[in-house]
Amino acid sequence: MSPRTILYTGKGGVGKTSVATATALACARAGQRTVVMSTDPAHSLSDSLDTQLGSTPREVTKNLFAQEVQANEEMERHWASVQSWLTDLLADRGLERITAEELTVPPGFDELFALLQIKEHHDSGEYDVVVVDCAPTGETLRLLSFPDVAKWWIEKVFPWERKLMAAARPFAKTFLDLPLPDKAVYDEVERLVGSLVAMNEILRDRSRTSVRLVMTPDRMVINEAMRTFTYLNLYGYLTDAVIVNRLFPEELDGGYFENWRATQQKHLKLVRSAFEPVPVLTAPYFDEEVIGEQMLDKLGDAIFSGTPAEAAPGDILFDTLIQDISVNNGTATLLLSLPFVEKGEIGLNKIGLEVVIRVGDQKRTLMLPSSLVGYKPAGAKIEDGRLRVDFKQAERVVRGGRDVKEPVA
Ligand SMILES: Nc1ncnc2c1ncn2[C@@H]1O[C@H](COP(=O)(O)OP(=O)(O)O)[C@@H](O)[C@H]1O
Ligand SMILES: [Mg+2]
Repeated sequence: MSPRTILYTGKGGVGKTSVATATALACARAGQRTVVMSTDPAHSLSDSLDTQLGSTPREVTKNLFAQEVQANEEMERHWASVQSWLTDLLADRGLERITAEELTVPPGFDELFALLQIKEHHDSGEYDVVVVDCAPTGETLRLLSFPDVAKWWIEKVFPWERKLMAAARPFAKTFLDLPLPDKAVYDEVERLVGSLVAMNEILRDRSRTSVRLVMTPDRMVINEAMRTFTYLNLYGYLTDAVIVNRLFPEELDGGYFENWRATQQKHLKLVRSAFEPVPVLTAPYFDEEVIGEQMLDKLGDAIFSGTPAEAAPGDILFDTLIQDISVNNGTATLLLSLPFVEKGEIGLNKIGLEVVIRVGDQKRTLMLPSSLVGYKPAGAKIEDGRLRVDFKQAERVVRGGRDVKEPVA
């Protein structure tokens, strides 16, 4: 059976590495052969486990393997031919070789190559559980959505392009003075796209793979996690838990931190309104850093004591996509699964991309994808136990020479 794969993401500094490592350790303690790998170029897995790690997995304690994936090594393995061809091409155009070499790696590709390690762990059959400590939010997402585009390209465009290039080669060499990509370059791109497509299938397998969002109870951090959640739903990636880390404990009431605690509790409510019924797990702000197995055990215990009854840290803790957004002819439709939703007055409020929905005494908050910034709510109802909200695109109206956006009546 393919391994269970859990990806942790969230803004920098919120505790991704600590939570990912604590999860992996908990799985290892439960007897599952587990690997935790970090693809965040800001590696801190070594610090977290308090031991020096390399780019290949090493067993750090019984059943727990850890690795800090090196993007440049992966690049060398997957991209060398393309890189040398592009470098020649750019250097021919008068660019400094060093600058040219830097330009041959599209932004974000390094993490993409690092993520390919997931596929290798799946192919190897070595592990029961693969835990990934990802780079912060935006990056990973953009990369995760990439294989769809790549797949289209490889199926529709690539075969033609390749034939045309083969036919044009003798002429191009003579007349254009351009270094054309050779077979090695094409083979490499084809292999790479094939791997990306396979990896995308792994990530989209909701019976084996899920994403967990780590956040602190701070407004900006939560906003970003909400955006990520929307995109994950959009791409069909399952989020099976969110973790709110660094909550000030009750003991702090009455002291200097009392205000902070109140604010955090308010933000925790916002988290629930944005993510439930996805399980919201929490961990306290400990009185020391989370370094080494003992502290990691403590963090793991705190987080997973909040899971639904009898669930283990490596289980799929929730199994449905609760948001579904589709766009058709200028109307965007949002379908939202709400627990316990029956009837009730529906209230809707959209400010920028944030939408606040009230149904009876329940409140939901979510972030729309940025492409829907010009859309306005046009109606809401409860349909088959789900809340359906329609948004209409604002029409462009030219007024006094200026482009003004107006809602469709
Ligand atoms: N619940 C917590 N209590 C106390 N310190 C924490 C907690 N979670 C994380 N830390 C500490 O915060 C720092 C950042 O955590 P880390 O997991 O590296 O974040 P990220 O990977 O998101 O950048 C580390 O020094 C870590 O030990
Ligand atoms: Mg980290």
